[in-house]
Amino acid sequence: MANPCVWLICLFSILLGSSVLQLEASHHVYRHLQSLQSTSTNQPYRTSYHFQPPKNWMNDPNGPLIYKGIYHLFYQYNPKGAVWGHIVWAHSTSTDLVNWTPHAHAIYPSQEADINGCWSGSATFLPGGKPAILYTGIDPQKQQVQNLAVPKNLSDPYLIEWVKSPYNPLMAPNAMNQINASSFRDPTTAWLGLDGKWRVIIGSKRHHRGLAILYRSKDFVHWTKAKHPLHSAKDTGMWECPDFFPVSSVTQNGLDTSMIGLGIKHVLKASLDDTKHEYYTIGTYNHGKDVYTPDKGSVDNDSGLRYDYGKFYASKTFFDNVKNRRILWGWINESTNASIDVLKGWSGVQAIPRKIWLHKSGKQLVQWPIEEIEKLRTKRVDSPSTVLKGGSVVEVSGVTATQADVDIAFEITEFEKAEVLDPSWTNPQVLCSQKGASVKGGLGPFGLLVLASKNLQEYTAVFFRVFKGQSKYVVLMCSDQSRSSLHLDYDKTTYGAFVDVDPVHEKLSLRSLIDNSIVESFGGEGKACITARVYPTLALDGGAHLYAFNNGTESVKISRLSAWSMKKAQIN
Ligand code: FRU
Repeated sequence: MANPCVWLICLFSILLGSSVLQLEASHHVYRHLQSLQSTSTNQPYRTSYHFQPPKNWMNDPNGPLIYKGIYHLFYQYNPKGAVWGHIVWAHSTSTDLVNWTPHAHAIYPSQEADINGCWSGSATFLPGGKPAILYTGIDPQKQQVQNLAVPKNLSDPYLIEWVKSPYNPLMAPNAMNQINASSFRDPTTAWLGLDGKWRVIIGSKRHHRGLAILYRSKDFVHWTKAKHPLHSAKDTGMWECPDFFPVSSVTQNGLDTSMIGLGIKHVLKASLDDTKHEYYTIGTYNHGKDVYTPDKGSVDNDSGLRYDYGKFYASKTFFDNVKNRRILWGWINESTNASIDVLKGWSGVQAIPRKIWLHKSGKQLVQWPIEEIEKLRTKRVDSPSTVLKGGSVVEVSGVTATQADVDIAFEITEFEKAEVLDPSWTNPQVLCSQKGASVKGGLGPFGLLVLASKNLQEYTAVFFRVFKGQSKYVVLMCSDQSRSSLHLDYDKTTYGAFVDVDPVHEKLSLRSLIDNSIVESFGGEGKACITARVYPTLALDGGAHLYAFNNGTESVKISRLSAWSMKKAQIN
């Protein structure tokens, strides 16, 4: 008899086919699936130390902040089912960004100005250290408007209850302001100018030009739209979840969002609804004119720099004034389809929070998992420095391969066999797809095979290739999911990024955080990050292994290899 699961998937697929009504924001709307609950107890893809609610749909991280020593994370959540819909702000708190306690929903439809949904937004500290949240509400006409909520009780460090402003909506499309009512959302953290006025940007578009619409306010309640946007870029489409913040050009410390002055650059990030990629530029904020200009050479479109070249979207940073760092949160979507999400009863994970700072070159940001995650490390395994010959695969044993933190560095001394980089190979993702882990090379592919089954029927390969460019060696980092699962109906796109390191003088490092169905990889000490979502069928529990491999002809040296099993965090 056929497996009942297969029948269920078929049934859901039929339902799915008939119920995709429209797109709202960037999310598919499956009306028939929005309120379905799963009873599945077989949950191999739940994570052990990534942030997730116990069930149902989650998307963007919202309003992250630290208040009276407690970290807060709000997030877009469907209380009724595993696909997008009925959106509220769910809420959890933590003392260490690792273990999380859930609370009642903080913001949910209750006013005209948000009766059809409480969408993404950000937190700002007002004078006296009072938190305030600006978020997008969907009004009775399905227009996107911006609303304010403040804590009911400032002496409660958990900020359980939020009160909405009676003045909501504070910013709304109207006949005068030319704002597109279905493309006006996701207010940033506001910043205070020298003139005592607050500024905030809202993501938007005009025709196909992505916009950061700027508003100003004296009291945080009455907002006036500025004549010009803070910035815009042609052919980028709708900008979701913009983020705008200062970074220091001299230290790795983070800065309060209102900081301006010498030794400070600014970063503008947009999440592109059309491509589901995020990109950022580094540039200068002219606070007199209220315009942001990307630096020369900072590419201002979908081909620009990304926080993460894999699955990572709708991200948001906040300034942690206790540890003086800026922290980045990002949403990792599933690579399955909605019917499978409904069966398993949940969808979406948050990436491990990352400290983020400006590289000393001033040309890119660097990211590193917050140090607190290292508390979960246990059973350390070290490998002595070894030569990894071309064509070899070496098992790293002694770690729980489904739940691990792996740190490896390669040293290259011989470059002769490096392949010549064709000048037309400018897209790293395409290059990684053409030259996956199984395609033999000169110098590389070498790296890790994670979530791998014993006979390598399944594995996710995270690796480097080194090419001879015109004036320097070029390092490519790839995350190849093509063999990650025997399941056929998953998105197994291979991701890639160029890493700006000089392999002649620097070691090539790779750190991967592995958590059952997530592989978050940091190349070149955090200069390039790739997150992959995978669904192994054999490389589960005791069936998962970890290997280092080299499928190039040239040998490379492993100069450092440490791996830890990761303990389970207490999450929600
Ligand atoms: C990004 C996004 C936001 C919107 C929210 C709705 O994923 O589409 O633009 O506010 O999700 O849940």
